[in-house]
Amino acid sequence: MITIKNTFAQDKMATAGQLLAELFELLREWIEPGMTTLSIDAYIEKYQIAHKLRSTMKGYLSYKHVSCISVNDEVVHGVPREGVKITQGDLVKIDVCASYEGYCADMERGFYLGTPQPEVAQFIRIAQSSLDKGISCARPGERLSTLSATIQKEVESHGYGVVREFAGHGIGKKMHEDPEILNYGTPDSGPVIKPGMAFAIEPMITMGDYRIYVLNDGWTVKTVDKSLAAHVEDTVIVTEHGPRIITRL
Ligand code: MF3
Ligand code: CO
Repeated sequence: MITIKNTFAQDKMATAGQLLAELFELLREWIEPGMTTLSIDAYIEKYQIAHKLRSTMKGYLSYKHVSCISVNDEVVHGVPREGVKITQGDLVKIDVCASYEGYCADMERGFYLGTPQPEVAQFIRIAQSSLDKGISCARPGERLSTLSATIQKEVESHGYGVVREFAGHGIGKKMHEDPEILNYGTPDSGPVIKPGMAFAIEPMITMGDYRIYVLNDGWTVKTVDKSLAAHVEDTVIVTEHGPRIITRL
């Protein structure tokens, strides 16, 4: 069942979203080569405690961290590790979901360390534009699969792959709610989008083949062909006038 969020819930979610957006601004300034992904996770946890954000990741299915940090050919759900130092030329994708007074926002951004080659810069841009185009479909009267198909079209028309096994999701009091928001599909089917719905939209794309596998840690998802992967995520509330992106400042 897709729940409709009232204005009280929407305001709390928006506060969570703004706090996450501010966190990512700080991260953008702060992260640098040589840091371990575990130390980045510790920074995020400190911020959450200071801002009354509650992690919805820590404890979820026994997950032990407040973020997922996926580097290069890691697509999503990278586990922060003491042994992984980020270095120049890495694409570091940080995913954080947290709640404020019981209401969640979910956000992911990638940070490239250094200046990317043109083809990598283009790939990162298309991850972003596929998210933006998907978000633009989150308006009343549109059907959900049109959003999914729009993401897929943007990604594939540039020659990249869409990961099939993971998807975006509804969000609210819980991190994962209905509906499942695929990043591929054919337009004009599925639920009709209505004001008050809230979606975490998160294309996961690959420079090469879209097949993935999960590491022995049970979490970290990597591309089979070792090609670079990108992932961006925003939380959006549908209003009468269209999407309100709560994880952007
Ligand atoms: N933020 C992630 C998502 O979009 C959550 C990953 S699972 C977790 O679904 F265990 F790490 F939380
Ligand atoms: Co999510």
